[in-house]
Amino acid sequence: MDKNVLKIGHRGAMGHEPENTLLSFKKALELNVDAIELDVYVCKTGELVVIHDDKVDRTTNGKGYTEDKTFAELRVLDAGEGELVPTLEEVLDVIDKKVIVNVELKGKNTALATSQVIQKYIKTKGWAESNFMVSSFDHRELNKFKQLYPEISIGALIEGVPLSYCECAIQLQADSVNLSLDFINQDFVNDAHDKGLKVYVWTVNEYDDIAKVKALGVDGIFSNFPERL
Ligand code: G3P
Ligand code: CA
Repeated sequence: MDKNVLKIGHRGAMGHEPENTLLSFKKALELNVDAIELDVYVCKTGELVVIHDDKVDRTTNGKGYTEDKTFAELRVLDAGEGELVPTLEEVLDVIDKKVIVNVELKGKNTALATSQVIQKYIKTKGWAESNFMVSSFDHRELNKFKQLYPEISIGALIEGVPLSYCECAIQLQADSVNLSLDFINQDFVNDAHDKGLKVYVWTVNEYDDIAKVKALGVDGIFSNFPERL
């Protein structure tokens, strides 16, 4: 009955370790995820760094906007348990093709920087296009990525339920539509599947919610506790 649902570790395994740190990504691997989700910004000196918020305040001991900090300024911060704010490349080296990597484009100009890193890992480090998925709430940035690198799967993140359900994902030539647990319903899932889109839902941590979204027929689930999936 239970179809194969992609188990996606959210910001690594943030229910266990500080989010978006190497510790969190290693924990997700230990928990046998199928994919790992993370968030990226380009910092002031151009490095692509893995952090969730536009400000460093919540997840580190620093203050201020992520995009206004140089890489050196970011690297003196404690991202939890003494962990550093990692670069996307450092994370990819840890994951080492073991599972799919879902890069969520959070900040400005992340499409170009992400496409360059992905290209480098495919051309020089033996990664495959199928090792990556790229997603964003910023559909303009996501569209830029699709134009730069059409071979990589993209997921349109949607907050709420648009009048035309999944139409924006079709426009973007997306492979999946990624929706919040707060808004998912059977009509939405059916519309996506009718249009040939996969449905990934975040962030699902409680066992009853996991059972609920599985019953709706979703294709993937983001969880802070991926072992529960
Ligand atoms: O990609 C799913 C989820 O991560 C989107 O929301 O705020 O956790 O980045 P957020
Ligand atoms: Ca995210």
